Amino acid sequence: MDSDKKFQNYINGQWVSSISGEEYEVFNPANKSQLLGNISYCSKKDVDLAIDAASSSLYKWSNFTAPERGEILFEALRIMDSRKLDLAETITLEEGKVLADSKAEVKRSMDIIQFSAGEGRRLLGNTNQSENKNNVAYTMRKPLGVVGIITPWNFPLAIPAWKIAPALICGNTVIFKPALSTPLSAIKLVEIFEEAGLPPGVINLVTGSGSEIGQSLVEDKRVQGISFTGSTEIGTKIYSDGASKLKKIQCEMGGKNAVIVLKDADIEKAAKDVMVGAFGSTGQRCTATSRVIIEQDIYDEFMEKILVLTKNLKVGNGIDSDTDMGPLSSLDQLEKVTEYIELGVKQGGKILIGGHKLEGGIFDNGFYVEPTIITDVEKESIVAKEEIFGPVLVSFKVSDLSEALDITNDAEFGLSSSIYTKDIKKAYKYINNADTGMVHVNSPTLGGEVHLPFGGLKSSGVGHREQGEEGFNFFTEIVSVYIDHS
Ligand code: UN1
Repeated sequence: MDSDKKFQNYINGQWVSSISGEEYEVFNPANKSQLLGNISYCSKKDVDLAIDAASSSLYKWSNFTAPERGEILFEALRIMDSRKLDLAETITLEEGKVLADSKAEVKRSMDIIQFSAGEGRRLLGNTNQSENKNNVAYTMRKPLGVVGIITPWNFPLAIPAWKIAPALICGNTVIFKPALSTPLSAIKLVEIFEEAGLPPGVINLVTGSGSEIGQSLVEDKRVQGISFTGSTEIGTKIYSDGASKLKKIQCEMGGKNAVIVLKDADIEKAAKDVMVGAFGSTGQRCTATSRVIIEQDIYDEFMEKILVLTKNLKVGNGIDSDTDMGPLSSLDQLEKVTEYIELGVKQGGKILIGGHKLEGGIFDNGFYVEPTIITDVEKESIVAKEEIFGPVLVSFKVSDLSEALDITNDAEFGLSSSIYTKDIKKAYKYINNADTGMVHVNSPTLGGEVHLPFGGLKSSGVGHREQGEEGFNFFTEIVSVYIDHS
């Protein structure tokens, strides 16, 4: 980290201050008086320069062979491997999640860079049988062009990595806009790509306000695609504004992920996984478990088990190795989450555990809330419906799988879901009927593997899925080629 804590943008291969000279401050959510950095605050003019650079480097970069681009990504992977701990600590410092989660995030970032680098030896098209004699027909992939990458604060390294690495291997040039509150992991990621040998202009970093930078990217004709992760509200705006400019848009948005626990389940494992799903990363992830739906015969037993597990969680500064759950990432988050809890109670929910902001001692330095379970919620109540994005779990008691499925699917979102059962027939009924983009059996709603598509249905996402083959499909255009050699 710079000794004077001043952090600049990266445009056309140079670290530069914003044109206006404006900066903003970033603090540690576990210790709000700890200043982490003074960060360049960009305006449209800075974004224009970044788009100039990305546009002028596009021809050169897209004419590297894909394996050559892959070599640079493999080098980035090696550099990242040598900085694992520093990166994990940076994530914890600026986002608040516990160090173990940050280390897992670094691992995930490395996995996607590795997967994308390897794609440099694939980037497949199809050869097709032509309908004409002595003709050859095939498809090939071309880069989309200049792409805007807009990422959230909750996975400040991994989400940028899983958008940028596929974009680069496919030959695109990038303008990267990280979240306002977590620019430091982003800066370190760009430094890694720079040191790995990415030519100037291929990746450009602009830090600052989402609305101004995002809007500039959406409006500029030279930007062919935008990959966004964040709220459904902002994603919808980017999608509709982008569509009116005929841009290719990929949005990964909210979730209200449910776990069903049937009476034949391994209840011990289910309770543990639901607890991790609900309270890991302080519940601030789109795949967090926010609803648990339990068959009535085992409801009390399950709730007793999850209660004990939740009671044992140690909340504190994520950098301390004995902390199980860190702070929320900002005052806004703290206010929003506590308002949801109050509303849940007002609308008839009962607090099984938690329910309050934590105060006194270290808790006064940061944005801490108790891990919270709300029972007896009405199906239509707000906490049963909306994404809370914090450590709040609501429970439902049901009579059978059909009722459980109805509740699972009665949601605006359709990102991830899970069932705990040993009955293969019920598991398949569930897999085939759950309206979510990711379906788990006997495993938490969380995460995903980088070589499988990540994303959801309904208000959870639009456009190509991220990661896996689908990630490369978003960042490429398919060209059909016809050759007459008669
Ligand atoms: C995960 O939950 O493992 O913003 C990843 C998010 C998602 C990524 C979640 N796009 O939380």
